[in-house]
Amino acid sequence: MARRKKVYEGKAKILYEGPEPGTLVQYFKDDATAFNAEKRDVIEGKGVLNNRLSEFFMTGLNTIGVPTHFIKRINMREQLIRSVEIIPLEVIVRNYAAGSMAKRLGMEEGAALPRPIVEFSYKDDSLGDPLVPEEYIIAFGWATQQDLDDIVALALRVNDFMSGVMYGVGIKLVDFKIEIGRIWDGDFMRLVVADEISPDSCRLWDVKTGQKLDKDVFRRDLGNLTDAYTEVAKRLGVMPTNVTHATKPTLIN
Ligand code: TMP
Ligand code: ASP
Repeated sequence: MARRKKVYEGKAKILYEGPEPGTLVQYFKDDATAFNAEKRDVIEGKGVLNNRLSEFFMTGLNTIGVPTHFIKRINMREQLIRSVEIIPLEVIVRNYAAGSMAKRLGMEEGAALPRPIVEFSYKDDSLGDPLVPEEYIIAFGWATQQDLDDIVALALRVNDFMSGVMYGVGIKLVDFKIEIGRIWDGDFMRLVVADEISPDSCRLWDVKTGQKLDKDVFRRDLGNLTDAYTEVAKRLGVMPTNVTHATKPTLIN
């Protein structure tokens, strides 16, 4: 088989040229990083789990009319996606104080926020993805005011969907990060949810015990990351088989 052309390699995923113009293949690696790649490890099976979980969330979003880049899963580690122009922002939605917000404001982790809060970070690892106000985003031309209004509306719909789905399986959605892409159709532009939605990019706490089931397990050395993600996948009914030895791609219909 001819080698596919690699378009981009990030910390947790690789993008290859897709079979048709306007498509890409997104490959999920087992690499885990935190603190802007200062901490890194290879967690066997993580990519397989995130591929399934991101498929599950993106499919659900597509179904309820929240547009995403996701087309279909191809095999254990790969999915077919629409090629988008990524807006260089991390769009973060918070329902409870945690992580950088808790630290910045001296809040106790887990404190309920008065309403969901949407914030933006500029996507640049070398700068540590700094929090940026809307003024910066508009002034530097990363997005327009109209884009930002649309992005906030999208992010809040993702939050409602994800919160409901997770609460249904006894998990609290504390916060999450999404990325937004632009798809151009001539002069017409659409904003879609891109990248991935997985326990790498969410904080997920068991409702009853408060146990962390997300990447904080890795960031804070709280135990086995694969076990935590497996628990999420099991509860959602998307547990893949042969997670740890899934090196050979299996084609699905
Ligand atoms: P934070 O509290 O560290 O700012 O993180 C907020 C949410 O965003 C949390 O669910 C983890 C996620 N996140 C990412 O997906 N990528 C990142 O680079 C960072 C810093 C956070
Ligand atoms: N994604 C970032 C990194 O890989 C930070 C994080 O998720 O904690 O370094």
